[in-house]
Amino acid sequence: SLEEVAPNFFTLSPDSPLRERIQRAYRWYSPRFSPCDVPRFADVGSITEDWSVMRGIRDFLVARYRNLPEPPTHILGFDARGFLLGPMISVELGVPFVLMRKAGKNPGILIESEPYEKEYKEKKAEAMTIRRGSIGKGSRVVLVDDVLATGGTALSGLQLVEASGATTIEFVAILGIKSLKGVQLSHSYGNGRFSKIPFFALVDESVLTEANCGDTAGYNGARIIGYREALSRI
Ligand code: ADE
Ligand code: MG
Repeated sequence: SLEEVAPNFFTLSPDSPLRERIQRAYRWYSPRFSPCDVPRFADVGSITEDWSVMRGIRDFLVARYRNLPEPPTHILGFDARGFLLGPMISVELGVPFVLMRKAGKNPGILIESEPYEKEYKEKKAEAMTIRRGSIGKGSRVVLVDDVLATGGTALSGLQLVEASGATTIEFVAILGIKSLKGVQLSHSYGNGRFSKIPFFALVDESVLTEANCGDTAGYNGARIIGYREALSRI
């Protein structure tokens, strides 16, 4: 069962068993042990390494989308971590999985979003692309990523679906960071043209506690250990 935490913004309700399983499995890392300078880096690997939680997420989302009066015709996954979730849903639904990537990674003739900024800033704002024709007019699309943070990527996805003449049914992520206002960014964009599109974060980052911290306590060594060094220490 779902809970509406803001207009057209949903999470799993507190009594949901799946919510509890995700909450228990997720690990976050502090900047000392993380590739990005964010307070708590949420590791999707802690979910993929738990095949049972992965299966729970798959089964839940497949049932959710299969049972719609008008089920999705496409799943659009966001590079790179959206690629972990999208295909396992699309193959069960029997619909294409489309890759949203930067222009330098996608072949063919591309449609490009407006540039956006992220929670952890890369040098400059980035834009996303899909191959023209990969989502036909009138298609119904579900957007998939691991984390919904500032929502820049999500907005790119909405733009690319709209510019394909298609409709976004829903954006879904495993983890939402509500405080970063990603949903507001998309819902307020362009005179509210996307304000009716539902966002669904299975759990919110605020449910993670110190018990979810993946940091190795008391570790003072280098974070990255080279091949030869690791070999010598087996
Ligand atoms: N993407 C944006 N912010 C993130 C975070 N805190 N953890 C993991 N992925 C993210
Ligand atoms: Mg991402």
